[in-house]
Amino acid sequence: MIRSVVRGVGSALPRRVLTNQEMESMVDTTDEWIVQRTGIRQRYIAGEGETTASLGEAAARDALADAGLEPGDIDLIVLATSTPDNTFPASAVDIQNRLGIRHGAAFDIQAVCTGFVYAMTTADLYIKSGMARRALVIGAETFSRILDWNDRTTCVLFGDGAGAVVLEGKEGQGTAGDQGILTAHLRSDGTHKDKLYVDGGPSTTGKAGFIHMEGREVFKHAVGMITDVIYDAFNATGIDAGDIDWLVPHQANLRIIEGSARKLGIPMEKVVVTVDKHGNTSAASIPLALAEAARDGRIKRGDLVLLEAMGGGFTWGSVLLRW
Ligand code: UT7
Repeated sequence: MIRSVVRGVGSALPRRVLTNQEMESMVDTTDEWIVQRTGIRQRYIAGEGETTASLGEAAARDALADAGLEPGDIDLIVLATSTPDNTFPASAVDIQNRLGIRHGAAFDIQAVCTGFVYAMTTADLYIKSGMARRALVIGAETFSRILDWNDRTTCVLFGDGAGAVVLEGKEGQGTAGDQGILTAHLRSDGTHKDKLYVDGGPSTTGKAGFIHMEGREVFKHAVGMITDVIYDAFNATGIDAGDIDWLVPHQANLRIIEGSARKLGIPMEKVVVTVDKHGNTSAASIPLALAEAARDGRIKRGDLVLLEAMGGGFTWGSVLLRW
């Protein structure tokens, strides 16, 4: 059977770093509160000329270079974002144009913080069905543009950035020993839609709107949902927590990451954490973390890597792959 194998990975961050100390002068908060409650120490904020599409393009070029491929080798672009440059066309098409690609297809996927897991799952299905051969899967966000900078309960949490992987179809045996995506599991439940949302949109206010979150409510559901969908991945493959080389979680809050790892019995030495440096970059957080851990030599060929995310909707999901 065909497996979708990660051939390259890349990332891009805005130039400007915003530290917790700087946040102290902007809203009624402290470095101590932010670090204790979230693990975040700084985040990157997009400046003039830096957008979801420009950051996504930079991450895509980085991933293509890592894969040793040219833009023309790609026949599918799936961009996970909740902060597109425009209501339409899709920012994926903008990125396709920036890369000079005129063939294949490009589209956006919107599943908020679970976006990258949804995008990987979608690209995997295209590749396994034979509809695409090589896909760029990108997570890119500029959440700073939809933050209310007077709301201390949200503005300290989020940051901007982009990450990308090149997925390529490769023949496998159909066993858990194969390289590539082994299993993927997606969930959503709209009864929670008002716990984390943006109060605007083209069809309602005609404006982009700002983020609102019942943080404690989201927190309450996070660990259970994350671990449920990871057990789905274990049940589908016969793989268990002891086999996992790297857990690469969505980076929302260090306490959620530690709680999930503890419940699964995965030691923190096997968990990639970037939330301290990036804050919560929504759909960009997993590929940013993957790029960092692959570049510094932690994630190696043959390693079993588990991706998971939970976020607005609620949406949640997992992808289990062999690097
Ligand atoms: O990525 C998508 C998914 N999103 C998440 O997973 C986020 C999930 N939620 C969280 O990470 C946490 O709930 C937060 C980090 C958002 C908040 O942490 P918490 O421990 O749940 O705090 P809380 O909301 O219960 O607030 C505790 C106190 C409140 O004061 P009172 O009511 O106890 O007097 C808040 O007003 O902390 C106050 N507070 C702050 N204080 C200083 C809220 N934000 C701040 C702040 N600085 N920035």
